[in-house]
Amino acid sequence: MSGIPHDHYEPKTGAEKWLHSRLPIVGLLYDTIMIPTPKNLNWWWIWGIVLAFCLALQIVTGIVLVMHYTPHADLAFASIEHIMRDVNGGHMLRYLHMNGASLFFVAVYIHIFRGLFYGSYKAPREITWIVGMLIYLMMMGTAFMGYVLPWGQMSFWGATVITGLFGAIPFIGEPIQTWLLGGPAVDNATLNRFFSLHYLLPFVIAALVIVHIWAFHTTGNNNPTGVDVRKGSKAEAEKDTLPFWPYFVIKDFLGLAVVLVIFWAIVGFMPNYLGHPDNYIEANPLVTPAHIVPEWYFLPFYAILRAFTSEVWVVQFASFVTGGIVDAKFFGVLAMFGAIAVMALVPWLDTSRVRSGRYRPMFKWWFALLVVDFFALMWLGAMPAEEPYASFSLIASAYWFGYFLVILPLLGVIEKPTAQPATIEEDFDAHYGKKTSAEATPAE
Ligand code: HEM
Repeated sequence: MSGIPHDHYEPKTGAEKWLHSRLPIVGLLYDTIMIPTPKNLNWWWIWGIVLAFCLALQIVTGIVLVMHYTPHADLAFASIEHIMRDVNGGHMLRYLHMNGASLFFVAVYIHIFRGLFYGSYKAPREITWIVGMLIYLMMMGTAFMGYVLPWGQMSFWGATVITGLFGAIPFIGEPIQTWLLGGPAVDNATLNRFFSLHYLLPFVIAALVIVHIWAFHTTGNNNPTGVDVRKGSKAEAEKDTLPFWPYFVIKDFLGLAVVLVIFWAIVGFMPNYLGHPDNYIEANPLVTPAHIVPEWYFLPFYAILRAFTSEVWVVQFASFVTGGIVDAKFFGVLAMFGAIAVMALVPWLDTSRVRSGRYRPMFKWWFALLVVDFFALMWLGAMPAEEPYASFSLIASAYWFGYFLVILPLLGVIEKPTAQPATIEEDFDAHYGKKTSAEATPAE
């Protein structure tokens, strides 16, 4: 480990000093890349880099696609076909962008659930978490608007259903919906504004990613133990950490390479697997598809949206106390956004003083159930809105809210955590160090 500094940038040559006293940009980059990082990070920590890669991939492929795409209701569908057939490498570009969106969401869900398990949202990382949630919302908006651009049947009807949700807001819903669509229904004006925003938002996301990284560089990374890096002296802190370059850069890139092998196989061999065949039929306002299904990454929240029908007693109760202002449709919209809101508020809902789920014997089980619940909701979102799926959706939605609003606050009070290691070094040594290579246990 010798030779890899843990220290800050010091300009050495005359030119370096000249620049540093005017614009300390090299110092900023140096300190960013050499940041002391807990040395016990496991493979769940590679997904931040995968996400950064996805953002770059979407921006680069998107910019080239735009060179050949026409955002007009009469030409959009044909311009996509033109990209697929006539543009050199066009089908690859499009499939990279299409499946890149899916990889982006796979990565973000793993990244979020990693944070939820290891308590990465807890003090002092609340801002990292909240900025992450803003990024996630923007990703959803961007993906939704991007899906409209090919102007296929699912593009058109998906946009009709989702923008219709805004119409469910009491009093101001309809003007909002008209404003979003640029007219009374999904049409050329809608396509134009969605195209404009779909191009803009990834750059807003990029700016938020910089704030996100800034925030967790200020607090330092969490780690699988949740135990803080020792702050007593530099020597002690160095026993708990390694500089990000080269150790974690190499590890993260190895992880990314493995992920990309799978991604490339999907792009090459089954690029339409995650898509819907109806989107290869041009948008037709006169023909409604048999099932309007959103992309897979929206399904859990779509299931929550549909779970609260007028037969559910909470909906009836809400409708009664508000004198009918909150009807089933509006309740569904509130539940869908509420499901994301409760996740955003988790830093304040989790009352446990222990960060990492590793040392929380009861939490582990409830968390495992939350993961199962998430997949169940994803499956239910793709099922028709009828029994038994409707009842299952209601149970699964109730668990989602129950986990964040009831279980997490209570667990912090009733659970007895197991012993945590005193330091990160101790955890690291238990896994990798202070042993002969023959005795070493594999990394978690
Ligand atoms: C474009 C999307 C995103 C990018 C590029 C990104 C990037 C990163 C990177 C590079 C890290 C450090 C390495 C790692 O922990 O994997 C990180 C950490 C973190 N991210 Fe994200 N992130 C994104 C979205 C999100 C979202 C949606 C959330 C959830 C709210 C989130 C929450 C966190 C948290 C809490 C940490 C601190 C992790 C720790 O140190 O344990 N991020 N992010």
